[in-house]
Parts: sequence; C-alpha cells; structure tokens
Amino acid sequence: MKILITGASRGFGKQAAEALLFRGHEVLAALRGGEGRGRMLFSSEALATGRLHFIDLPLESPEALARLPGWVASNWGGRLDVLINNAGYGLMGPLEHQTDAQVRAQMEVNFFAPLALVRLCLPSLKRSAAMGGRPRIINISSIAGLVSFPYYGAYNASKFALEAVSEAMVYELSPFGVQVALIEPGGFKTGFNDSVEFTEVHPERDPVSAARLERFKHNLARKGSLFGDDPARVSRLIVKLSEQRKVGLRHVIGRDAWAMRVLQRLLPDSWRIRFETVFFERVFFRSTQTLR
Ligand SMILES: NC(=O)c1ccc[n+]([C@@H]2O[C@H](COP(=O)([O-])OP(=O)(O)OC[C@H]3O[C@@H](n4cnc5c(N)ncnc54)[C@H](OP(=O)(O)O)[C@@H]3O)[C@@H](O)[C@H]2O)c1
Repeated sequence: MKILITGASRGFGKQAAEALLFRGHEVLAALRGGEGRGRMLFSSEALATGRLHFIDLPLESPEALARLPGWVASNWGGRLDVLINNAGYGLMGPLEHQTDAQVRAQMEVNFFAPLALVRLCLPSLKRSAAMGGRPRIINISSIAGLVSFPYYGAYNASKFALEAVSEAMVYELSPFGVQVALIEPGGFKTGFNDSVEFTEVHPERDPVSAARLERFKHNLARKGSLFGDDPARVSRLIVKLSEQRKVGLRHVIGRDAWAMRVLQRLLPDSWRIRFETVFFERVFFRSTQTLR
C-alpha cells in the first residue's frame, strides 16, 4: 500500500513509518526538513528498502501542504491508500494567560492542517478505492480529544475538533469507500512532553498561577517518565488499522486513557468532574515539596 504519515521524524510517527516499511508498504514520511533530515534520522536498513520517501511538510505552511498532491501524482500515479495525520504538539498552561496567536497556532497544527491534508488527499484516496483498494484516513487524536484536563484546554480544543470532523467524515466518505479511524492514546513515552509549549505566566502579575504552572511542569515531567506507556503499542495499532479490512472509528489506547474513558461513560458529568478535580489537583498541582 501507499501510505503517507506526518510527523515521521520521531515518536509514534517514526516508529509507525518504520514498522509499515518493514511490512512491505511504500511510505511517504512527511517531516520538517524533508529528505535531508529524513536520511539522518532513519536507519540505513530502512533507507535501503527503496520504499521510504520524504517530503518537507511544516504543517503551518499552506504552500508546503499544497505541494503534496503533485508529489503523489508524479511518484504514485495519483493513488494514496492511507493518510495518517499524526504530527502535533501541546500548548499547555492556564487559558487566561495564553495569547490568541498561541491558541491559533495550536489549532493550525493539530486541527486545520490535518483537515487540509484530508481535502488535499481525498482525490488520491478515492482513486485508490476506484482501483480496488480500501483507502482510509487515520487521525491521531488523544484521550484529550474526549476528556478535558486543566492546562490542556487549547490542546483539548484542537483534538476535540479533530474528533468532531473525523466522525462527520465517516458519514461523508463511506459512499466513496474511504474509511476513517481515530486513535486516542493516553500518556506514552515519546518526545511529546519535551516539546510542549508552555504558556508564560509572570509571577509578579499572577503569583498563584505562576506557582501552579511550575508544579504542573514538574509533575508533568515526572508523570511522563514514571507512568508513560511504550509507544510501540501505538505504532502497532497504526499498522493494524492501516492493514485490517474494516476499521471502526474510535480506538482508545493506554491504561490511563481507558480509565478516563470508562469513568466518562459510567459517571454523570457532575460526579466525574468532582472526582477528577481532586484527581487532577493531586496529579498535576501537588506541591513539589510533598513529592520528595
Ligand atoms: N505521546 C503521547 O503521550 C501522546 C498522547 C496522546 C496523543 N498524542 C498525539 O500523538 C501525535 C504524535 O505525537 P508523539 O507522541 O509522537 O510526539 P513527538 O515525539 O513530540 O512527535 C511529534 C511529531 O510531530 C511533528 N510536528 C510537531 N509540530 C509540527 C509542525 N508544526 N509541522 C510539522 N510537524 C510537526 C514533530 O516534528 P519535529 O521533529 O520537526 O518537531 C514530530 O515528528 C500527536 O498528534 C500527539 O498529539 C501523543
């Protein structure tokens, strides 16, 4: 199959690109820096397959996104079997202190760019269907696309939006034979927490939020390194959803993600939010002193 995956430089994206390649697929790895950077990041074994291709794709650049159909037309005869929207990052901190530009950038990368890629790739996905393929779109969302957390608000909004359009796409695209799947991971040990953009809070203007943000940063790093799951589980799920005949829409993965999803399903919102207020205060805002 001919597969495009964004955010292929590291984390889930790189692991999945390699796994798909070693399953015999043609992979177009989209990453910032394109071929030059890609050749430095991937193993000589992967490069030697001759089935790994690179495209420079900074997601905030409409010009870069617009070059994609041309690449698919020239190299794959206009056919694409799987689009995997994986690239993304987290903007975290109190919403009160975030700038419009920061929130818009978060939406641009995590929501508008994946949606634009769907539009740009649909003619090629439909071509796959016309040629007897079983094309699909796999959007990497998050448990944060189903449940909101404190200081994740903008990231939550971007992933909730991705969830919304993905569900709508199931109805819109099934007549064309294009399937849609969402993956909703909990915490996994990738570089995600290291590349979080934190909101700036000036202690002289808002000492309480500044102190809470410091605790949040400390606890996020600690939680990620202690409790994060193995990212290979997600790349295996990406491979499975790329290859299996029929895919369902939602795929929650990770212990913490499952726990939150079950609570969301079982408890009325008022109870769940009361319970999670206590939980999040302990997990994210507990004083660093009491942790030692
Ligand atoms: N790890 C988790 O715990 C977790 C949980 C739930 C959901 N997710 C989601 O999983 C996806 C992959 O994340 P990951 O965990 O693998 O994190 P990661 O290791 O930080 O990888 C993020 C990838 O996205 C790329 N990227 C970020 N901003 C970009 C931009 N503006 N243009 C192009 N590429 C950009 C990065 O490229 P560069 O190398 O160029 O920065 C990198 O390849 C994301 O959508 C994330 O929201 C992760």
